[in-house]
This record gives sequence, structure tokens and C-alpha cells, in this order.
Amino acid sequence: MKNFTSLLDVNNLDSLITKALDLKKNPLAHFKRGRGKTLGLIFFNPSLRTRLSSQKAAANLGMNVMVININEDGWKIELEDGSIMNFDTQEHIKDAAKVISQYCDIIGIRTFASLKNQKKDYEEIIINKFLEYASVPVISLESATLHPLQSFADVITIEEYKKTKKPKVVLSWAPHPKALPQAVANSFVQWIKNTDVELVITNPKGFDLAPSFTKDVKVIDNQDEALKDADFVYAKNWSSFDNYGAIGTGLDDWKITVEKMKLTNNAKFMHCLPIRRNVIADDAVLDSENSLIYELANNRTYAAQAVLLKLLEQ
Ligand code: CP
Repeated sequence: MKNFTSLLDVNNLDSLITKALDLKKNPLAHFKRGRGKTLGLIFFNPSLRTRLSSQKAAANLGMNVMVININEDGWKIELEDGSIMNFDTQEHIKDAAKVISQYCDIIGIRTFASLKNQKKDYEEIIINKFLEYASVPVISLESATLHPLQSFADVITIEEYKKTKKPKVVLSWAPHPKALPQAVANSFVQWIKNTDVELVITNPKGFDLAPSFTKDVKVIDNQDEALKDADFVYAKNWSSFDNYGAIGTGLDDWKITVEKMKLTNNAKFMHCLPIRRNVIADDAVLDSENSLIYELANNRTYAAQAVLLKLLEQ
């Protein structure tokens, strides 16, 4: 593995899952591997879990970590090649990537979708510029369209908690007052399709994910029908892909409630967090014994650690 920006960078998912679960049992087993190495975490957008779990993962491997919230603490970044920078941008992304590569052995980048220009978002300009210009491995800490570290933790968690060989996993759209990217949902589908589960996506009309992700996946707009016999319910809001960036209004009944969970096969509930309580899912679901929200957040560390270890071993 040279970089980690999507599932496509992973040669053997089963072995990476096994490695993460081994690290969970013995987090300091490779403490000397990262000694003298530095992880740089570059945040264009906010984070709690990704930031702290990546720092903890690096610490478990003996690495140093440097973090910058680049929009607040750095110079304003120019993305266009060849631009005449006589307006408000002060540092070209090419220079930033090359300079950060002088200080770091691995670079993590977090950048969100604009939700204004679908073509530009799906071109993944920032992550691809780092891949082009950085001279060290690049990890996505969530990009405009994908969140591979989250998805890796998602599949680890399902592997840990599944009770049948091929569980039914339902990805359910849920309401949210503001437009959110499709990254977590896209990435979840990309990863989970490569594991042994029955995947069903349920979302209102007008909220289908990009066809490149949903190809060969059952997508239905009747949430109750989708939830029937589910072993795992993964709730997530995403804004419209077709009517790009539009939020759903009048769809509050898509919230996950105790009554809806009763339709399932005593399903485990999952969400990547942060979550707007009682909007996406009720407190009674989030705080129930079937909720895996904190277990999933915990697995973020071992997902990140398995990826860092793999990159350090190259
Ligand atoms: N799930 C997740 O990526 O959380 P943060 O945005 O807090 O990092």
C-alpha cells in the first residue's frame, strides 16, 4: 500500500481487518516501528474522532505527530495550477505539499466537499494535488467524496459484532437540518460491498447516491421494508447527489426510532458521529444496549493504526 485514500489502495481487506483486530488486542506490539517517524495531520475542516484517533494510533506506533488546522493557522491555499496569485491566496498547494513532505513521513489530509460544484467535488482536487506533489504517503482523513478510515472502522465493527456469517446491513438515510457530504455513505458502500454481507440502502426519492457506488446494490425508498430483518442499521444523512447539495425537507419521519428498530432482527445501531441527537436517531436508540456508536468510535484508532503500520512497513 503506497497511499490510503480509498478502498482501491488496499490489496487485501481481510488481512487488514485481521491486523486491526490484532492491534486492538495488543496496541503497543509495534511501538518501535514508528520511532523517529513523523505523521503530519492537515485539517482543512473540523474533526474530533479522526484527529484524536489518528494521534493515538500514531502514538501507539511510537510516532511523532504534528497537526495544523490549515485554514485557521496556515496561509490561504491556492489550488489552481498556473494561477497568478495576486488576489487572496498566499501559498500554492504544490508548495505546501512539497514543504510538508520535508517534515513528515506520512501526511493525513482532511477536506470536505463544497456541495456547490459536483464535478469539482468528485474530482477530489485537494487530495489529488497532495498525491501528485507530496513525496511521502498520503492518507485521507476524509475527502470530498470518501471517508476510508471511517469505513474501515465500520467494517471492523461489523466483523466484530456479527452473529451470522452473512448479516443483513441496512444503510438508512436520516434527516439533518444542514447539507452534508455523501462521503461517509459513498465510502461505506464501497467498503461494505467487498465484505460478506447483504447490503440494502434505503433513502427517499431524490437522495440516491452516485450510481458508481450503488451499482448492483438494492436501493429502496420504503424505509420500513428495508429495515425488516436487518442485523445492522447504519444511519447517515447525505445531501442530494442529483440535485447537488440539496437537503431533504419534510422527511423527519426518516429518523431512527425504537419503533423502527423493532422491525429489525434486534439490529445493532451504528453511526459515524458526530450525531444530532433526536434528529437522526432518538436518544433511546443511541443509548440502547444495541447501539455501537462508542465501540465504532473506539475502532477508529485500530483502523488508523493498521493503515499507518502498513505504510511504515513499505
Ligand atoms: N466520524 C468522524 O470522522 O468524526 P470527526 O469528523 O469528528 O473526525
